[in-house]
Amino acid sequence: MMFKLLLANNESSKLLFDEADTEKAFLPRVSDPDFSVSAFLNKMKDFQGYKLFVSQAELGENCGFISLLQNKEKNSYSIGPMYVKKEYRGKSIGKFQVEKIIDWARSNGIEKLHTETWGQNKGSRKIFEDLGFQLTKEKQNDRVNGDSTVVYQINF
Ligand SMILES: CC(C)(COP(=O)(O)OP(=O)(O)OC[C@H]1O[C@@H](n2cnc3c(N)ncnc32)[C@H](O)[C@@H]1OP(=O)(O)O)[C@@H](O)C(=O)NCCC(=O)NCCS
Repeated sequence: MMFKLLLANNESSKLLFDEADTEKAFLPRVSDPDFSVSAFLNKMKDFQGYKLFVSQAELGENCGFISLLQNKEKNSYSIGPMYVKKEYRGKSIGKFQVEKIIDWARSNGIEKLHTETWGQNKGSRKIFEDLGFQLTKEKQNDRVNGDSTVVYQINF
């Protein structure tokens, strides 16, 4: 199956955000135990450096998203929440989304991508490591279940 990654807005992606929240797909930090992806991305939507991309399957169904937030250094972005709908997992869409973001970053003169996930998140860690991100930091006991936060970076 072919997938496309398109620049999107929060309105057209609301169902995906709700699904991620219902699934409790993101393990909250101790500092923000009530984290919800809808609230977080809605807060970001007026920030000029916020970008949202959505993956679409052949029939136009939205099947995942990846978000980007510009850092204070203008040529640096952080990958924020990324998500693939449960029924579409294991088809390399998660990897495809990050590959496309790397392509976007390279073609827009971005020098650095940064991202954070949690230690036990085998899927996202594999994607970042396979695509050349380096582990730069691990913050112990940073998540509500005692897991760590792992920090990755790639420089171009
Ligand atoms: C993380 C997530 C985006 C991965 O999406 P996906 O489309 O299933 O991932 P892919 O199919 O591209 O998998 C890429 C690789 O990781 C591996 N992988 C994926 N999930 C895995 C898991 N849970 N455990 C071990 N390996 C896993 C795949 O086998 C694949 O390896 P390969 O390239 O050697 O074949 C998806 O599981 C998800 O939305 N999870 C909930 C939200 C989340 O955790 N977001 C990331 C937080 S930053």
